[in-house]
Amino acid sequence: MTNTEVGGVVDTMSTADAMSTVDTMGTVADAAREQTGAGDDAWVIETLRRYEPATMHTQHPVVWDRASGSRVFDRQGRSWLDWTSGILTANAGHARPEVVEAVKAQAQQGLLHAYMFPTRVRARVVRALAELTGFPQCVLYTTGAEAVEGALKISRRYARARGRRAVVVTFDGAFHGRTLGAQLAGGLPAQRDWTPECDDVFLRVPYPERGREWSPEVIEEALREIGAGPEDVACVVGELYQGSTLRLLDPAAGRALREWCTRHGALLVFDEIQSGFGRTGALFAYEHIGVRPDLLLCAKGLSGSLPVSAVLIGDPRFTEGLRPGELTSTHSGNPVALAATEANLALFADGTLVAEAARRGRRLADGLAEWAGRRPGGRRIVGTMGMIAGVVFTKDDGSFDPRTARRAVAECVASGLLLCVPSTLGGAMIKIMPPVTTSEAELAEALAIFTAASDAVQPA
Ligand SMILES: Cc1ncc(COP(=O)(O)O)c(C=O)c1O
Repeated sequence: MTNTEVGGVVDTMSTADAMSTVDTMGTVADAAREQTGAGDDAWVIETLRRYEPATMHTQHPVVWDRASGSRVFDRQGRSWLDWTSGILTANAGHARPEVVEAVKAQAQQGLLHAYMFPTRVRARVVRALAELTGFPQCVLYTTGAEAVEGALKISRRYARARGRRAVVVTFDGAFHGRTLGAQLAGGLPAQRDWTPECDDVFLRVPYPERGREWSPEVIEEALREIGAGPEDVACVVGELYQGSTLRLLDPAAGRALREWCTRHGALLVFDEIQSGFGRTGALFAYEHIGVRPDLLLCAKGLSGSLPVSAVLIGDPRFTEGLRPGELTSTHSGNPVALAATEANLALFADGTLVAEAARRGRRLADGLAEWAGRRPGGRRIVGTMGMIAGVVFTKDDGSFDPRTARRAVAECVASGLLLCVPSTLGGAMIKIMPPVTTSEAELAEALAIFTAASDAVQPA
């Protein structure tokens, strides 16, 4: 087991994550029998368990039949208020009519795939992205991890073209996806125990979280340890609002980082795959700190539904050295996925949705403060920003209580509020991520369920 200092607490992620998965598997099996009873939902659970590896089954056995706005429905007529947003994807709500209509129209047009041949919908989406974000170019992909890999390739190729060793600097606590490059760039040691040792290429430094002393000197120190200097760096990759710890990059540190990258010719890459598209109460979290990256990575809320990701490129020079085809893939630019993206982007165009996220986020933060106030010393808010928040239960000695967190989530799911099984901060953090469009009434209803469920598993 590797312990990591995260936000002042010792994170025992490797063991606790593994245990939480094992526990969840037990819960999944039992709850499947209990909750789904006879009928096709039980068949779904059993079939998945038979034909997929156990590692795939981490969540409660709620068999999604459809999802609309802030609610998920099964075929038995049960519904759940959604505090997962499909892991931060349905920011603008599930199955928006505009998105559904766009997908239908594209399918009815009779074009489901086009590889890298030009299509009208791809042209409209890349133009819309440039207009919305101000980044002049982009490369489209399907998953977030693929966008991370693309950014690593762009940065390292650009560095190599200038005779650099092409070191990638990343931060402790960061999550960038589950492919090889993305996990090498990640800052969660337990997730790297399967990767090759590449510590002379991927360099991890302490995360400059808000309120902590930090200077780019830590990067230079780490570079010296591998016999390199600032002129060897290809890029610094930061997760602006760390999903595993809910820490925001400190604004002063962000500015120092921007200045350091510009001075040394390294690209500043912000991974906003999770924090983008209104989630934190701004279109992108970097707006909170006033620091613009060279490459911006988006996925999840970019389409709000179908698999689309993008590397937004701040300067066309960054890709000039790449050979033809080096950034393409079979499904990048899929017309149906891009039809959904185009409709989703239009929802963000006038800023109303983002303003709503900020306003609704304050209501969520107030509600959680009340939740914590009911058991001072027994509950803690790890962080809130816009429509994302993380909370923990704590034991008498102040340590985190993953068991109570898991029981509270199970109780919520049984009571009509859908949450992901806690997995970060040693399996203790309950992550709250409703669609940004959740109404006041839905938010109040969800907070009431969450509070009652918490009280039930943590008596006074
Ligand atoms: C910050 C961040 N980067 C990258 C990824 C990887 O995205 P995907 O799961 O689409 O590959 C995630 C996914 O949760 C993420 O939160």
